Amino acid sequence: MQKLEVFGAIRLKGQINISGSKNASLPILAATLLSKKKVFLNNLPKVKDIETMINLLKSLGSMIKFNKRKLIIDNSKQNKNFASYNLVKTMRAGILVLGPLLAKFGYAKVSLPGGCSIGTRPVDIHLKALSKLGVKYKIIQGYVHAFAPKGLIGSKINFPKISVGATENLIIASTLAKGTTILSNCAIEPEIKDLVNFLIKMGCNLKWISKRTIQIIGINQSKEAIHSIMFDRIEAGTYLVAAAITEGNLKIKNVIPYILQTEINVLRKIGAKITTKKNEIKIVGNKKIKNINIKTAPYPGFPTDLQAQIMVLLCKANKKSLIREDIFENRFMHVAELNRMGAKISISGNKALINGNTKFEAAELMATDLRASVSLVLAALAAKGKSQINRIYHLDRGYESLEKKLKKVGARIRRLN
Ligand code: EPZ
Repeated sequence: MQKLEVFGAIRLKGQINISGSKNASLPILAATLLSKKKVFLNNLPKVKDIETMINLLKSLGSMIKFNKRKLIIDNSKQNKNFASYNLVKTMRAGILVLGPLLAKFGYAKVSLPGGCSIGTRPVDIHLKALSKLGVKYKIIQGYVHAFAPKGLIGSKINFPKISVGATENLIIASTLAKGTTILSNCAIEPEIKDLVNFLIKMGCNLKWISKRTIQIIGINQSKEAIHSIMFDRIEAGTYLVAAAITEGNLKIKNVIPYILQTEINVLRKIGAKITTKKNEIKIVGNKKIKNINIKTAPYPGFPTDLQAQIMVLLCKANKKSLIREDIFENRFMHVAELNRMGAKISISGNKALINGNTKFEAAELMATDLRASVSLVLAALAAKGKSQINRIYHLDRGYESLEKKLKKVGARIRRLN
């Protein structure tokens, strides 16, 4: 098992280039199943989850080749509609192939994602919404057997709760449904906007008719498309916190600053000095870190995927802070490890009370999920001495070349086998 060794308490200085978004790439890759024409995708991040999704598409019959950083997908002979557990279990987003397979074949057998360390990850909202498009389904031995005997029929669907994945699945499925579909109470994460932009390039007929409502008019066939994946805003937010926690001075490139406005406002309140230009954010960390209360929320609220990272920073604040995790039921797995490094965090339900004034001590640590793992790296960067982080396969699911990017700005970090 590989691990990371970090010597902390070094101010990070320099430039970090942000990679393509994992969470935009996954639904866009799933959506390529809709098309019989070639699709060209640029700026996919080199992370494990993308590799897994590509393997899943290949298992469904997609022909895929990489040349340089461009992915060429040819689904003209894609003819399978069975997504197996061994591919879906490591990456919950595998459920996103359900919508396109149903749209294309009218039948699909897709493994239920199964839970993970942050929660049970149900897909009831996806399934109930698909049934409104005429889909019948049964859960048999951990698989969704779904079929649409008369094909998908456009309908009006109001999501009972904001769900990124369910919004993506239904948007993709509706593009080939007969007639018009109106989806309301949609998630509007930037990654969903990127998916919609991609589908429009494929010739699909989609239009946002209000903040959280989208209209989709079904088409018969799509056309060849080329698309460059948007930047990864969670990776960018992670490195902003890295600068703030090491009193560093970083230039974060290949970003669209307004998409991170909520995070920038929070970091400014905490005391970081931030200036923005067209495709870059400059951040200078401050010695004095001010406390702040945060609750996670769907975009444009504070993202749950940056909750663990901001918690590490708030451990060093001058007073108490409260974080409320309103999206997932069990997303405090990083707290126990942070407390082992000297943090004083107590949990009550979905609230974490952070006592502040922590001087992190280096330690040997265990990663549990993708974002919790990177919060341990941030704490190790702030701690004097040598820390070791085990099970870093979690990190490799969503962060491209993490140690290389950190080393380039002065961190003492290396991967050990
Ligand atoms: C997406 O997960 C992201 N994953 C997550 O990022 C992110 O944390 C999450 O959205 C929230 O922003 C990808 O985009 C691949 P949801 P998703 O459906 O779609 C409940 C990361 O670290 N729910 O918006 O699974 C669900 O349990 C990952 O990159 C149902 O109850 O999130 C959760 O409590 C982690 N029934 C809440 O809704 C459903 O049918 C929000 O989930 C679906 C979801």
